[in-house]
Amino acid sequence: MKTYRVAILGCRSRGTCAGRVYHAHPRTEVVGLCDLLEDRLHALSDELQVEARFTDLDKMIRQTHPDIVAIPTAPSLHAPLALRVLEHGVHIDVEKPMAMDLVEADAVAAKADEKGVQIAVHHQWRVHPWAQAITRAFDAGKIGDLRYIYASGKGYYGGFGLMEIGTHLLTQMIKFGGPCQSVTAHATTRGRPITPRDVLPAPRGNGTIAGDRVSASLQFGNGVTGTLLQHGFDKLNLDAHVVELYGTEGRLLWHPHAAWWLPTPHVLPVDGKDQWQKLEPLYPDSFETAMNGMDGGQMMEGDYWFVEEYVRALDEARPHECSGAEGRHVIEIISGIFESAAYGRRIDLPQVDREHPLLRWRREAGLGDPESMPTVDAEWHEEEQRRLGE
Ligand SMILES: NC(=O)c1ccc[n+]([C@@H]2O[C@H](COP(=O)([O-])OP(=O)(O)OC[C@H]3O[C@@H](n4cnc5c(N)ncnc54)[C@H](O)[C@@H]3O)[C@@H](O)[C@H]2O)c1
Repeated sequence: MKTYRVAILGCRSRGTCAGRVYHAHPRTEVVGLCDLLEDRLHALSDELQVEARFTDLDKMIRQTHPDIVAIPTAPSLHAPLALRVLEHGVHIDVEKPMAMDLVEADAVAAKADEKGVQIAVHHQWRVHPWAQAITRAFDAGKIGDLRYIYASGKGYYGGFGLMEIGTHLLTQMIKFGGPCQSVTAHATTRGRPITPRDVLPAPRGNGTIAGDRVSASLQFGNGVTGTLLQHGFDKLNLDAHVVELYGTEGRLLWHPHAAWWLPTPHVLPVDGKDQWQKLEPLYPDSFETAMNGMDGGQMMEGDYWFVEEYVRALDEARPHECSGAEGRHVIEIISGIFESAAYGRRIDLPQVDREHPLLRWRREAGLGDPESMPTVDAEWHEEEQRRLGE
């Protein structure tokens, strides 16, 4: 059985997780690492005992001949670096979100098609042990027919939360609901509807956003409706960070750290039957031996599954469950949410106009692109408070 060769482009936090799981998995081997900053490059390479170290990604790919290149870098670099890596005709594992807008996402998808390679977008929560538990229960018919999906974020500033966390939640929603056909959304800043002046560059360089609270109603292909809330709160975690599937006979609730089943649709509380039951997480067979007690936390359990799924997908010559097509569709939904909130109308997907809807909205209002903002969360929020005169 083939061992897939993997190169890591970016050696900080997410690159370290990627390096560790690709190194640990019995069917993948880390053959090269690259970072512009040599201390990071050497720290991770020393840990993984890999000698092929580079500061030039093209050189790394030419010299190490990887099957897959992981791209765990800052959001605004996802598409530009993906395009550069794809030029070499290798599969990619690019961090989420896949791109900052649809123009970028389309370019990345087209380049992968042209080269005949795969894009996998790092939506690891969709294949995480708790998500596997949800899928198993769902496929076993434990909630009957799906009738509604609810998801909410982590309490981040709404538009930022949509890019940062919403991308993960949406990929889980479309897994069960099917492709999203249309979007109706509302966004407010400090309780009043957004205006073109509320369009801002997001914290952490996460694209162009608007609204501190974003609420969206989504119509899915399987005839199911969904609600996605991304509401900013002063205290994080007031929003639950969940995806909940409502069926005709029960409910399933996903959270990054657990998953539960309610064996009644709970239309109204039912005495003795409305107790949530915790599900059992599912791990790949190789997980325990490969990770050998390594404490990578919840996120790395998902990262391991993500690698396992890549191995299975390549073995079977089929797309990764977190494919580029799904990743691009998520960007369509996010753009649709922003467009609907800005223009106050339902948006049918996929949209013909691929320009960022918020930048178009500003331009039509006679405004240019928004001025730059700090990328660090705390400084960004201070600047936003100043802008709002608080
Ligand atoms: N999947 C998840 O659950 C999850 C969780 C947190 C963050 N993220 C995503 O991960 C990313 C951030 O990861 P991070 O904090 O490790 O990123 P980072 O930006 O701190 O580190 C990226 C590294 O890549 C290097 N780099 C950038 N351009 C390069 C180039 N051209 N050649 C070589 N090296 C280059 C940088 O020097 C840096 O060391 C974001 O996209 C974020 O959305 C995902």
